[in-house]
Amino acid sequence: MSERILVLHGPNLNLLGTREVAVYGTRTLEEINEAIRGLAKSEGVEVDITQSNSEANLIDRIQGARGVYQAILINPAAYTHTSVALRDALSASGIPVVEVHLSNIYQREPFRQHSYVAGVAIGQITGFGPDSYLLGFQALINYLRRGSTK
Ligand code: DQA
Repeated sequence: MSERILVLHGPNLNLLGTREVAVYGTRTLEEINEAIRGLAKSEGVEVDITQSNSEANLIDRIQGARGVYQAILINPAAYTHTSVALRDALSASGIPVVEVHLSNIYQREPFRQHSYVAGVAIGQITGFGPDSYLLGFQALINYLRRGSTK
């Protein structure tokens, strides 16, 4: 049975392509999703992708992931810096999580330099634009196949 990975995009990422292009670039969310699907296909894994502007929807999706997905790749967007509830849902899921960001959050405003999610993720990739998703996705596949990050 092939691995199943859930990809979650948080609030405002539906606007990629037109949103603050100097920070986030011109690639649309659909273009990023196509690249993720391409990598999934070449690695022989299944992927489901959801974007939501709602913290509640993201939490419901994470709660429903247990027993269905082997890993979660998430860009929590602004909820990275605000949401204990999202962190708790990820922690409760018991599913390995990789956190990604398009921009390098550590080069930005002080309020973006703390992540509530990082402490419950196996790792974080930040600052590589759309490649952050592909690097994170590959890292999760390697983790699942090796059983560790080592
Ligand atoms: C982001 C960084 C967050 O600080 C911001 O709120 C986002 C996008 C990124 O991918 O760089 O919406 O997660």
